[in-house]
Amino acid sequence: MSKKLNGKVALVTGASKGIGAAIALRLAADGAAVAVNYSASKDGADRVVAEIISQGGKAVALHGNVSDLAQAEKLAAETAQALGPIDILVNNAGIYAFSALDTLTPEHFHSQFNVNVLGLLLVSQQAVRHFSTKGGAIVNISSGVSTITPPNTVVYTATKASVDAITMVLSKELAARQIRVNAVNPGMIVTEGVIAAGMHEGDMRGWIESVTPMGRVGKAEEIAATVAFLASDDASYITGETLHVTGGFR
Ligand SMILES: NC(=O)c1ccc[n+]([C@@H]2O[C@H](COP(=O)([O-])OP(=O)(O)OC[C@H]3O[C@@H](n4cnc5c(N)ncnc54)[C@H](OP(=O)(O)O)[C@@H]3O)[C@@H](O)[C@H]2O)c1
Repeated sequence: MSKKLNGKVALVTGASKGIGAAIALRLAADGAAVAVNYSASKDGADRVVAEIISQGGKAVALHGNVSDLAQAEKLAAETAQALGPIDILVNNAGIYAFSALDTLTPEHFHSQFNVNVLGLLLVSQQAVRHFSTKGGAIVNISSGVSTITPPNTVVYTATKASVDAITMVLSKELAARQIRVNAVNPGMIVTEGVIAAGMHEGDMRGWIESVTPMGRVGKAEEIAATVAFLASDDASYITGETLHVTGGFR
């Protein structure tokens, strides 16, 4: 049966766990060959690759810290070398830590901007050089916080507002090359990162469920399905959009 991403090559950053792993699995299920990027969690990336292969798909695990130019360059080159010219880039790698204005530090600022903003730009720059001449799609994983603007999240929220702005700028800059650029802005999704931050239960989760019209948090698979749509030809006239997948919480 023909699948909607058959013959496509995708690079998913931060795909060793969480939302990125779900995206890699979904793009592969839709027919794409997938480069599963990781920074520290080689075992996680290997597990995602093994699952894709066990389901008859094609995938490779590729190391690379997105916030390092040389590693971003190597990641993009190795993706093209292993799988062929890139059609789809998903900039998912990201970190989150929250602080009130009073307690934030330069380290808190730079660590998040380095991965969430600089990393996204470096991988985009390098990957575009290896894109198919036919063009393709970039999907940036932003966050619902960029418009919800919760208190005590100023640095993280600023990184994701930057991702929204970058999405709009690059959609115009890359349109002539037939590369569409969109963002997906998730609400709370229970992932390894959210559990490690202790946000999957208690006050934070209770508050989100109480203010979300649909009354629940989201699933990584729901984000992956949205990414698969934006990456596909079904979204061929959509670029520069920020699509909120937040159960109606804005
Ligand atoms: N979960 C949510 O509620 C939520 C909501 C809105 C937006 N988001 C966004 O969704 C994305 C994924 O979040 P998540 O909850 O799935 O996070 P997660 O469970 O913590 O996973 C993060 C992934 O990013 C990778 N990563 C981190 N730093 C990296 C770097 N410098 N270079 C390459 N990869 C790196 C990690 O790989 P290693 O372990 O190998 O380093 C891991 O695969 C982030 O951009 C986040 O801001 C999440």
